[in-house]
Formats: sequence, structure tokens, C-alpha cells
Amino acid sequence: MIDGEYQNKTVLVTGGLGFIGSNLVIRLAALGARVTVIDSLVEGCGGNIDNLRTVQESIRIKVADIRDAGCYAAELERPDIIFNLAGEVSHSASMSAPLRDLELNALAQLAFLTTCADCFSGARIVYASTRQVYGVSRVLPVAEDHPIQPVDFNGVHKFAASAYHLLFSNIGRLDAIVLRLTNVYGPRMALNAKAQGFLSVYLRNAVAGKPIEIYGGGKQLRDPVHVSDVVDAFLRAGLAAGTSRVFNVGGPEALEVRQIAKIAAAAGNCEIVWREFDRAEKAIDIGSYRANAGRIARELKWQPRIRFAEGFPSALRSYEHELEFLTGTTAAAIAPAAC
Ligand SMILES: NC(=O)c1ccc[n+]([C@@H]2O[C@H](COP(=O)([O-])OP(=O)(O)OC[C@H]3O[C@@H](n4cnc5c(N)ncnc54)[C@H](O)[C@@H]3O)[C@@H](O)[C@H]2O)c1
Repeated sequence: MIDGEYQNKTVLVTGGLGFIGSNLVIRLAALGARVTVIDSLVEGCGGNIDNLRTVQESIRIKVADIRDAGCYAAELERPDIIFNLAGEVSHSASMSAPLRDLELNALAQLAFLTTCADCFSGARIVYASTRQVYGVSRVLPVAEDHPIQPVDFNGVHKFAASAYHLLFSNIGRLDAIVLRLTNVYGPRMALNAKAQGFLSVYLRNAVAGKPIEIYGGGKQLRDPVHVSDVVDAFLRAGLAAGTSRVFNVGGPEALEVRQIAKIAAAAGNCEIVWREFDRAEKAIDIGSYRANAGRIARELKWQPRIRFAEGFPSALRSYEHELEFLTGTTAAAIAPAAC
């Protein structure tokens, strides 16, 4: 479905210097797409200019905030597809700074969508939403029609942003698809950024040989998905015609957190340490989650392929010669012009 389809396509990727965005950009460049990245390297997020060093000659990087249309809109050719991944991932940061999260995950999105609808009317846009919008699962696996009951500000604001995308579609001004991602892991995860989720902490600790911590008993289920599978879901969504607009993107298997921790600890040769959640962490814990990804399998023919026991050690190996990712010390290697 994908081979050849992106050759010479004009593609805009927001958040393209971040973890998932950079993996997507590298794949798009390999497929022959003409890629422009917009990313403002927000402090505390996972953006790193080094993430795109291997493709910097064949793509365009614009360091700009998606809110600042004046910085980029006039220069852009109409994109065939917009992949919209700019955002803040951290659930705990959203609780300590809800207004910052509102700015980054909702207001910035509304401003960006307004710009897109004005400048690129009717364009396909694929948005990176999150399973966090569901909150505590009432049934497992969780399908797209599960009630929306987020337990933190990040979930509320990400849901608002997905609702903006769907509204712009309903009024005929954009053509949006929303992907609700489960926990994503893999190369180019921001190991130097704090509170990016437990998988980035496990990867960081495995790289550094530090203990892998299990919180709250470890029996909670998660369905981690490798970033290359997620990239494949974005590429399919970018091309989809006449399908649903909202899709879950889940991993190939549900594992208990303690199984995930065991795999991470074995890969990094680390010990395991058991901890209890503190009150703030417990308040935003969603318990168990597993996506029902039947809709995306049926309509977009997407299946996650990489199991955690295979994907985590290979992600770890990708960091073996890249310890600077832990400190971000090589970020000055490329210096794209700021807006
Ligand atoms: N990583 C996951 O497990 C996961 C799970 C569910 C959803 N998501 C969503 O996927 C998207 C990408 O996640 P990620 O893990 O790659 O995060 P990331 O932090 O690595 O990347 C996000 C990028 O967006 C950029 N950004 C943020 N606000 C911006 C703005 N206003 N203007 C320009 N750039 C901006 C940041 O600088 C960063 O480079 C996010 O929207 C996130 O909510 C991620």
C-alpha cells in the first residue's frame, strides 16, 4: 500500500524533531517524499536536532512554533499531507503546569488548524492523539467508542485537539484522521527529557545500567508499540480514503508492567526495584490498558509487527554508540535558521 505512494509527495510534519516525528520523517525521506519539518524545540519536550542529522540534506527544517503562522505559512508549498505530531507528552507535567499543557496541546493546535484551513483548505491532516483520552478502562480491550474520561490535563487537552481536527473536517475545511496511540518506544526516544512516560525511563535506565523500577504492583497491562509500527500507521492514515476518522493504534500484545520491566532489566543487565505510587501518581494512574485495534486492521490493513521482547533490546542497541542522547550535548551539530 505504501511503496511508491509517497514518491515526490509534499509533506509537512509538525513535531518532526521529536521522537515519533523524526522516525516518520526519516521514513518519508527514504520513500522519496519532499518533507518540511516545523518544530520549535520546546523546552522539556523530546525534540533534538540530532534526530534528523542523517537526512538533513534531503529535507527542510523550520524551527518555528506551529502557532506562529507568520513564520512559516507564506513559505510553504501546499502539502499533500500534513502529519501533526507537535505536542507535549508528559501526563505528570500537565498536572503541575496545566496552563502550559493547554497552550501546547490545545491552543497551539487550534491556531495551527486555523492556519491550515485558511492556507491549505481541505488538506489531509493526520493527528497524533493518545489512548490517555479514555482514562480508566471500563472494558478491555478498549475500542474507539469507549467513553472519554481522561484522568489528567494532558488527556483533556489532547482530546480537545482531536475534537478540533474532527470539527474542521465536519465543516469541510480539512480532512482529518486521528490516531490514538498507546505507549510508543524505540530509537530516538528523548532519554534526556524528564517525565516522558515509563518506557523512556526504562530505556534510559537500561542504557545507563540503573535499576528498573516497578510501580503499584506491576500487574497493570500495557500494549507497547514500536515506533516503526507507529510510523507505518501514520503512512497508511495519510493515504486512507473514505475510512473512519478515529483509529486506535496499539501494540501486538498486552503485557503486565512487571513483564515489561523484566524484559527491560534483562536487556540492560539491570536490577529490578519495587516502588509504590505516591498520591499524585496514583491519582492519574489508568490501571490496565489494551487497545482494540481491529478498526485500523480492517480499514487501513495495519498490524503491529514488533513484539516488545524483540523491539526493546534493539532500541537499546541503537543507543549504545549514542550516549550523547542522554545529555543532548551534540544538539548544536545542525543549526537550522530560526524563524
Ligand atoms: N510517545 C508516546 O508514547 C505517545 C503516546 C501517545 C501520543 N503521543 C503523541 O505523539 C506526538 C509525538 O510524541 P513524541 O513522543 O514524539 O513527543 P516528543 O516530545 O518527542 O516530540 C514532540 C515535538 O513537538 C514539538 N512541539 C511541541 N509543541 C510545539 C509547537 N507549539 N510548535 C512546534 N513544535 C512543537 C517539540 O519541540 C517536540 O520536538 C505528541 O503529540 C504526543 O502527544 C505520543
